[in-house]
Amino acid sequence: MVNTTVFDCTILDIGKIKNDAGNITVVEKKVQIPFDVARIYYLYDVPGGESRGGHAHKELQQLIIAASGSFDIIVDDGNVKRTFHLSRPNIGLYMPSGLWRELDNFSSGSICMVLASLVYSENDYLREYNDFIKLKNGK
Ligand code: TYD
Repeated sequence: MVNTTVFDCTILDIGKIKNDAGNITVVEKKVQIPFDVARIYYLYDVPGGESRGGHAHKELQQLIIAASGSFDIIVDDGNVKRTFHLSRPNIGLYMPSGLWRELDNFSSGSICMVLASLVYSENDYLREYNDFIKLKNGK
């Protein structure tokens, strides 16, 4: 996690099976994403003006998708910040470990779906920005 930067984040086009009756997007093992999925969770009913995140992960890799609606993800490696706007269910943001993130600007009814490389563990979280910066600086 020490060496990752915001430039290791990538926007992935997951693809779309188009149909007049509606579209399908498929995420299949190792085809679209560079890790095996151990957990899927989704964030919804976010009240207007709220923000989420405010932490980094030591090992966890994630693919974040706006399954419905839109939101912004601000990623921070301790040096550089980048903002990604997600608004399409066939586009995902790949995030390696070791990046601070904030999610905000959620549209009404939006769903933030996260495919994660590990099962939930509170030990994987860095919830204090100062602790994150210390680890990024190898201290
Ligand atoms: P957190 O990851 O801090 O939420 P966000 O980044 O969206 O603001 O998680 C919020 C709470 O939910 C926290 O108490 C941990 C719990 N949680 C689980 O128990 N399992 C999970 O898979 C996730 C993602 C969160």
